[in-house]
Amino acid sequence: LGSTQCSKPLISSKIPLDSPLQVLVLAAGKGTRFRSETPKVLHKVLGRTLIERVIRAGASLNPVQITVVVSSGRELVEAELSRLSTLLSVPIVPVLQENPRGTGDAVRSALSEIAKFSNRVVIIPGDTPLITEETLKQIVVEDLKAGKPDLGVVSCKPPSPFGYGRIIRNDAGAVQRIVEERDCTESERLIREINSSLYVGEVNFISEAVASLKPMNAQGELYFTDAVAYGIATKKKVAALLVENWLDLAGANTRAELSALEQSCRERVNKLIMESGVTLEDPATTYIEEDVIIGQDSYLGSGTRLYGKTRLGARVKLDGDTLIVDSTIGDGTHVKFGSMIEESAVASDCFIGPFAHLRPKSELAEGVHIGNFVETKASKLGKGTKANHLTYIGDAVVGERVNFGAGTITANYDGYKKHKTTIGDGASTGSNSVLVAPVTIGDGAYVGAGSVITKDAPTDSLVVARGQERVIKDWAKKRREKLGK
Ligand code: UD1
Ligand code: CA
Repeated sequence: LGSTQCSKPLISSKIPLDSPLQVLVLAAGKGTRFRSETPKVLHKVLGRTLIERVIRAGASLNPVQITVVVSSGRELVEAELSRLSTLLSVPIVPVLQENPRGTGDAVRSALSEIAKFSNRVVIIPGDTPLITEETLKQIVVEDLKAGKPDLGVVSCKPPSPFGYGRIIRNDAGAVQRIVEERDCTESERLIREINSSLYVGEVNFISEAVASLKPMNAQGELYFTDAVAYGIATKKKVAALLVENWLDLAGANTRAELSALEQSCRERVNKLIMESGVTLEDPATTYIEEDVIIGQDSYLGSGTRLYGKTRLGARVKLDGDTLIVDSTIGDGTHVKFGSMIEESAVASDCFIGPFAHLRPKSELAEGVHIGNFVETKASKLGKGTKANHLTYIGDAVVGERVNFGAGTITANYDGYKKHKTTIGDGASTGSNSVLVAPVTIGDGAYVGAGSVITKDAPTDSLVVARGQERVIKDWAKKRREKLGK
């Protein structure tokens, strides 16, 4: 691969944290507005679940534990959590909210778990996927500046406050309470400062506040937001921690909001990729997941999708409308329009496509040409080998400089088992030849066009397996005469 690669991750600020925290993620909501069988936090933004994005950011705080409140679809959510716990080496403990009755009830379900630690707790809603390490660390700094209040409410001013709870401050500018959109008066609705649903606070205060909550709202739910008014009423220290970057705090309550967040996430990643020296013809239609690495001076045409652990070398050219999943593409390789590459390794200076499909475990050495409507699977192709048209190569080991005639097929499947085809260096197959595996074509051997090959072809031989051609002179002429044409 090229030497100059876009090195992720999105941010890596080195803000020191003075004492360890614990993190509480609220992920038990029914996600009613999503209208989905899948729990909301398992929906994805740019290839990662909402909960993965939140947990990754939370893990960057090095918490003593991440406690996650789960309920609907809990088996699926818990499976995702255990994957993430291993992936990120962070302790994650799910707690059950039996019957989700609001954010206050969610925090209440987690009390006995978070009370096991004396550490300050950072509460993050599970549906805030754009939250970054940088913003979380900034919040921790703001919390310190505010003198570690009993409860710090993270607020921001998005372009439209619609749908969020509003921060109500008094004349002196001190926060008094939070009022939900649906419980707002006309004038409250005009307030632009909103509650992000991220909080930093003391476990003791949170326990006390949650015990006091009553369902006094349009929804008949227990709102954690009411902990603010409770804190003010009981003369506790409550502060609003105002954060600039509202996008990091945006929540996804509907699929339309999810798609807007997906777009923002994609824009962030694409911007970094371009800054690292890669040309994107049309960032709006280019999907690059965060684990992808791309070498300098590569060119990605419109409609490029790069998923998973894909690595592109330097000067790779993708014409466009190409999907590459978990694959490696070497320097200077050109993938022509409309191709798909999965779990494969392509070396440098290859030509792929247009309309080619490299299925899993295809390994192409330098300078291989794979052309129109060619499919490969679990096959190794040696240097300079060419399959330019209409060919299927499956379970094959192919040498160097082999030429596949148009329409060559490795018949690898007998209805029960897959069999191997071996083709030596410099061999050549004629058009429309079928190589019935298991079979070996020796170095330099030729397969005659239209042959069905079932026996091994010796080195440097010609093998032909088709009906003998007959020439019947004047047959057509006689026929025309007979028919009077
Ligand atoms: C909440 C806040 C609102 C804030 C907004 C920010 C309340 C009452 N409102 O509203 O002030 O502006 O977030 O995005 O807190 N959850 C549970 N169990 C439940 C209910 C919710 O775990 O019983 C979880 C959800 O999975 C979600 C999070 O808590 O991840 C927030 O819940 P949601 O219903 O999305 O609250 P909002 O209406 O967005
Ligand atoms: Ca929400």
